[in-house]
Amino acid sequence: MGHPSRLLPALLAALASCGPPPTPKLPAPYVSDVTIIGHRGASGLAPEHTLASYDLAIQLGAAYIEQDLQRTSDGVLVILHDTTLDRTMRGPAGSCTGRVADHSIGEVKRCDAGSWFNDHSPERARKEYARERIVTLEELFSRYRDSVRYYIETKNPEDAPGMERELVAMMDRFRLREPAARDGRVLIQSFSARSLRTVRAIDARLPLIQLMERIPKGADLGAIFDSVAAYAQGVGPNRLDVDDAFVAAAHARCLVVHPYTVNLEDDMRRLAHAGVDGMFTDYADRLRGVLALLGRTRTPLAARCRRYGW
Ligand code: G3P
Ligand code: CA
Repeated sequence: MGHPSRLLPALLAALASCGPPPTPKLPAPYVSDVTIIGHRGASGLAPEHTLASYDLAIQLGAAYIEQDLQRTSDGVLVILHDTTLDRTMRGPAGSCTGRVADHSIGEVKRCDAGSWFNDHSPERARKEYARERIVTLEELFSRYRDSVRYYIETKNPEDAPGMERELVAMMDRFRLREPAARDGRVLIQSFSARSLRTVRAIDARLPLIQLMERIPKGADLGAIFDSVAAYAQGVGPNRLDVDDAFVAAAHARCLVVHPYTVNLEDDMRRLAHAGVDGMFTDYADRLRGVLALLGRTRTPLAARCRRYGW
């Protein structure tokens, strides 16, 4: 029998060989560079444009949370998609129906912004979301500060003249203007070219996305993109208008492409393969899952383009 001091290392080696195998060294996960934009938050899973919806979108992996900006009768910037309150607000008819622009913030804050959602299961909706309220831009920035990325649409800006300057002033108050100019912390989008040009006149460094209605077949994409590239950094087209040629024509003019609203996995895969730079989706988790399987698909912008990380 050997001396105990010589047996100990052998015993330890034998024990080690019985344990679990060492963890193999895996390559870092392949992270997609297609930007996930939480459309109205996580609006497939929670009532749109509520804090519950934004919190969830962030948890599910959205790189940006999206807002539609409007203004109340007493001049408060609030986040709401429809011009009217009827679809997404519940409460006294005098306060919670009709145009948001015709109500004061005090009135619309009385409305329940959550229980319309899941109304096939009213009990659940009441429990989960009845406390949700319309969110002001100030509340949004106060809650998330510079911890998230914002994608803000000036909605019906012709009904709220001066909205662009008020938006930029609020970005200043929360020190978001410089990060927006530097790395796209805030992207400003609109269907209104006039509204985007107004933002550009306030600060030409702010990144702008031109939203596009359906484009007629046979339209001259090159001419459209030439005109957009004079004032914006990207386009937000309807998902049905986007294919490889669309992306190539936009990228040739250094415009990023962020189609809306992409909720079906087949569309997500198709658009990723077409080389888009990001997608608006109501289901950030679903898009994240699809992109994780695809890996890198984004078509790099030409070397002469500024490299947008968004
Ligand atoms: O802003 C992108 C997309 O949201 C545009 O459509 O009607 O949902 O604001 P809409
Ligand atoms: Ca929008």
